[in-house]
Amino acid sequence: MCNQDPPLPTAEPMNKEKLSPQPADSIVMQTEGSLVAPSEQAFLGQQAHDQNEEEIENQQEAIPHVHTDNDSAVQHLTEDEDDHGDGVNDHDEGTFSDYSSEYSSSFYTSILSEATDYYWENGRRYHAHQGGRYLLPNDEVELDREDMKHHEWMLITDFRLHLSPIGNNPQRILDIGTGTGIWAMQVGKSSQLGCPDKKLILVADRYPSAQVIGTDISPIQPTWVPPNLTFEVDDLEAEWLYRPGTYDLVHVRFMFLAIKDYPAMLAQAYRTLKPGGYVELSELGVTPETTNQNYPPPFQIFRWLELYDEAMKKMGFNFRVAHAFKNMLTDAGFVDVTETKFEVPWGAWPKDRRRKAIGLWHLEQLKQGLQGIVMGLFTRSLGWTPSEVEVFLVELRKQLDDKSYQLLDHAYVVCGRKP
Ligand SMILES: C[S@@+](CC[C@H](N)C(=O)[O-])C[C@H]1O[C@@H](n2cnc3c(N)ncnc32)[C@H](O)[C@@H]1O
Repeated sequence: MCNQDPPLPTAEPMNKEKLSPQPADSIVMQTEGSLVAPSEQAFLGQQAHDQNEEEIENQQEAIPHVHTDNDSAVQHLTEDEDDHGDGVNDHDEGTFSDYSSEYSSSFYTSILSEATDYYWENGRRYHAHQGGRYLLPNDEVELDREDMKHHEWMLITDFRLHLSPIGNNPQRILDIGTGTGIWAMQVGKSSQLGCPDKKLILVADRYPSAQVIGTDISPIQPTWVPPNLTFEVDDLEAEWLYRPGTYDLVHVRFMFLAIKDYPAMLAQAYRTLKPGGYVELSELGVTPETTNQNYPPPFQIFRWLELYDEAMKKMGFNFRVAHAFKNMLTDAGFVDVTETKFEVPWGAWPKDRRRKAIGLWHLEQLKQGLQGIVMGLFTRSLGWTPSEVEVFLVELRKQLDDKSYQLLDHAYVVCGRKP
């Protein structure tokens, strides 16, 4: 039994011996002329280092190599593939691709030029993609918070990286909107993660069979990663260039501020998954309720959430979407859809140790992120001035710190299988 709270999470991997450095240009960007995602090209090359020749032949049958024109950003992953004697002619006209070069050319030229295009607004750094459409900052403060959220999620789910029953030997895992990449990099075995006497285990150890791809519009991921993990710059709302029918798991967590059209995203996930593969959506409900009937409701907190709802809707998003995931997955054609709900206290008011820890981490990450969560949205969508936002946040922080309200929210994990 773990009788000590886990240490603060860190973006740095815990066991560097198990990691491989990627070159300085390690974040792979999908560039002009790519017919499919770079990971499709990297896949055989990565496998070749770890598998015997017989296995390599099997892989070649499953995933043919794909040619990339003038794609310097992915050269480090592809340059020695021919040395493995894969027997596949890169310039062969019969090379697999479901996508037209016309399409990928126009889109990826644009995302490549945007990838590291950041701007500063009210003291925070944002990604410039689509005129700064993603509403949260991508600076160090926010990235630290992302890792805190990951740890909170590990507490919520009892240290389960995912709930989908994908077995012990998945081959391909896709993490959409990977953020700091912490989910893809760091996973503890069983519920003992964080106990000082237990070793942290990286995803490479957990699923050595799998090629893990993390995608994001921002190349904010670390460069030391397990050898079976690749990060790629990609826009989830554009057509996914992953070979259809080949993934065991598509993982989408904390993405309600990024996804306007869930059915469209789920259709792409469905196409990308192999039959029997799973999509998994994980999200906070953000509908906290007061459990202390003897105390007046927290006016400022509820006002904040109402305004947030209004501002998000103006921008075309619905952030309170988690309760609808189950129906969405069913509508998208997934079967065996399961919804698991977990309690998430806001603050350390519960008496029991587990919920107290979840509440503490939830409140801390919320307070750390509050300015970034509110500033961009309220100034852009509601036309507030930065000073109006700051004044609003003062009272909000006070109420968040008040344990008497005993706010209780829920987290959702919804899984569905492609038949
Ligand atoms: C809240 S973070 C989620 C991090 C990660 N999924 C996790 O669970 O730790 C949201 C991420 O989505 C990314 N994002 C926003 N819009 C996106 C888009 N259109 N395509 C891909 N990624 C996007 C942001 O850059 C950010 O890193």
